[in-house]
Amino acid sequence: MPLDFVYDSAVLLLSIILNLILLPFYIVHQLYDSLTFKPTAPPKSVLITGASSGIGESLAKTYAANGTKNLILLGRNEEKLKRVKEICQKKGANVAIYVADVTDREKMDEIIKSQPNLDLVIANAGVSQYTIMRDQKKTKLDDSLVKEDMEREVININLHGVLNTVYPAIRYFLQHNKNKTSQICIVSSKAAQIPMLTNVYGCTKGYVTNFAFNLRREYASKNIRVNNVLPCWVETSMADAYKGDKFFMISSDKAAKIIIDGLSNDTPNISFTFATSFMMDITSNIPWFYQLVLQKYIRVVKDVE
Ligand SMILES: NC(=O)c1ccc[n+]([C@@H]2O[C@H](COP(=O)([O-])OP(=O)(O)OC[C@H]3O[C@@H](n4cnc5c(N)ncnc54)[C@H](OP(=O)(O)O)[C@@H]3O)[C@@H](O)[C@H]2O)c1
Repeated sequence: MPLDFVYDSAVLLLSIILNLILLPFYIVHQLYDSLTFKPTAPPKSVLITGASSGIGESLAKTYAANGTKNLILLGRNEEKLKRVKEICQKKGANVAIYVADVTDREKMDEIIKSQPNLDLVIANAGVSQYTIMRDQKKTKLDDSLVKEDMEREVININLHGVLNTVYPAIRYFLQHNKNKTSQICIVSSKAAQIPMLTNVYGCTKGYVTNFAFNLRREYASKNIRVNNVLPCWVETSMADAYKGDKFFMISSDKAAKIIIDGLSNDTPNISFTFATSFMMDITSNIPWFYQLVLQKYIRVVKDVE
């Protein structure tokens, strides 16, 4: 009998037993948490990166419609930002726009430092290998150097871009918001759970998910709530760049509503949709599923070729 089969079976059996033993403690803990939870006041000043389209744009519009007074919107495309600004102003919000690349550490620090008020910072800007290929009008990556360039760009935006947003926000909150609760939202992806299928994109999202988990623990006592968002398919320009199947895709407006509800309830991991999340959580808890089924038998995933 192969050793890894014995090992996987032992892992599975023991995790079932441990799950059953620990489940009652988890239920009591969740009940206690929900009974003692104090909701944050709706945020008055929200900063959103990647607000020029997709999920970021929908978040801005929904916050404006819900009565948020000040919106600070960041992106690289000025025209698109101006369009979102106009819509949000019509809904009654004061809107400041900044044309900024999240990979520019000094500029991000300057913008965040200069705000008179901030309650919530949303690190949403992100790209996938497919959006980069589409934007650079490439259909084929036949040269390993080009692939390396593309991967480094995804890492720069999805990973360094998040650090460049989150660390100035933490410094800001520690200095200015000592007596009130502040919040940081990091937009990751459910792809974080399957980096072996989503390559560099999933790897960067895996990093930011773990980063959010650790920050939440680290800053809980300092009155800073940190929440991680794990969407599956959302109908945006990013989803459009991927030509494969997109199961249970929802609109960006619906995604924004789910995220805003999750943030006001301080849900640590805001995952959606239920059906796709459930499927992914089940499969990623079967130790040999990815190893055996996906790597050996299912070869449907076409990455950049
Ligand atoms: N759509 C999905 O199915 C899905 C699923 C899971 C997770 N997500 C995550 O959701 C977030 C938003 O994506 P989306 O679906 O809304 O895609 P999108 O419509 O393409 O929006 C991406 C936003 O990020 C901004 N952005 C990209 N690179 C940037 C940079 N270097 N500096 C500053 N801003 C930059 C873009 O603005 P400019 O072009 O103006 O710079 C745009 O506003 C991303 O983090 C993505 O990974 C999306």
